[in-house]
Order: sequence, then structure tokens, then C-alpha cells
Amino acid sequence: MKLRIAPGDLTETVVDAVVNAANSSLLGGGGVDGAIHRRGGSEILAACRRLRETSLPDGLPAGQAVVTTAGKLPARWVIHTVGPVHSPREDRSQTLASCYREALRVAGEIGARSVAFPTISAGVYGWPMDDAVRIAVETVREVAARQESSAPGVEEVVFVPFGADAESAFRAQLST
Ligand code: APR
Repeated sequence: MKLRIAPGDLTETVVDAVVNAANSSLLGGGGVDGAIHRRGGSEILAACRRLRETSLPDGLPAGQAVVTTAGKLPARWVIHTVGPVHSPREDRSQTLASCYREALRVAGEIGARSVAFPTISAGVYGWPMDDAVRIAVETVREVAARQESSAPGVEEVVFVPFGADAESAFRAQLST
């Protein structure tokens, strides 16, 4: 499994699956969630609504992941995951790590060979950028180390930092 950085707009990243930093409702929002629904079109929301009417009546819990069509996006799938809201009192790092693990597990299940991640929880959910990036890279490296069992077939993970701070944080973390 190769890891690389592709700064820019996740919705334009040409991979098999893009990961959405969603909220539990799965019914859209701002940030990358808003960009994916705006650019991907109504098919994505329709698929999310069907999930809410069937397998996810209470929404998607933080740390879990679910796949839908990518609609008009260059990608084939959107893997929605819900990051934890950052809390100064409670360590939610494991939930954030779970977003990356579960998204890659789902990617392996659907046969995605390349997966692109935004910096989950580092926007509206307030996670400090450097720590969000550390957790992202460390978790993906752990999955890569036991590749065959946890994300078979995933050959490439692309981190898509949005803005200079995120980009330099990823470059620093990936050079360790
Ligand atoms: N491409 C790549 N990254 C993006 C894009 C984009 N088009 N838009 C925003 N980002 C970056 C942000 O700059 C941040 O670094 O994605 C990271 C995650 O930020 P958010 O999208 O705000 O996601 P998050 O912090 O996980 O908060 C999720 O925000 O949008 C709502 O519905 C969403 O309620 C949920 C919450």
C-alpha cells in the first residue's frame, strides 16, 4: 500500500473511492461533506437517505464507515465516515483512528484500489491539524503493515490536505 499527498479539492481527486468527513445524519453539511454533495449531485444524498431508511435508522455512529455511489464525482464510490468532535476533556483519538481503519476496511470489501482521505475532524469538528494528521498517517501505516487482513486490494492511499497548514503537516508526518 503506497501513501501519497495530493493537495487540493477532494471532490476532484481521481481515485476509486473518496472518503467523506460526514456527520451522523449522513444528510449533508458544510466543509468537505458539502463539497461532495454539491459536486456529486443528488444521487449521493438519495443513497444516504436510503441507508437512513434501512440499515442506519439512527444515523452513522462516529468512527464507522459506509459506502455509497459517488454520483457525478470522478471517483466511483464515496465512503462516508463520521469523525469525533475534538474535546479538550476526553481523548477521542481512537474514534478518529477508527474512521481511517473502517474506511479502508470498507474500501477492501468493495474492491477499491485507491482511496483518498480529507483530514477528518480537522475542520468544523475542531481537531488540531497536526494531531489529526498524525493520527491519519499512523493509522494508515498500521493498516498497511497488516494489509492482507485489513484492507486487501487497496494499493494506494491519497491524503488530500486543504490549505498550506494541512499540506505541511502531512509532508512533515510522512517524512518521519
Ligand atoms: N477537499 C479537501 N478537503 C477539504 C475540502 C475539500 N473540498 N473542504 C474542506 N476540506 C478540509 C477542511 O479544511 C478540513 O481540513 O477537510 C478537513 C475536514 O473538515 P470538515 O469538512 O469541516 O470536516 P470535519 O472537521 O470532520 O467536520 C465534519 O462538518 O461539514 C460538516 O457535515 C459535516 O457535520 C460534519 C462536520
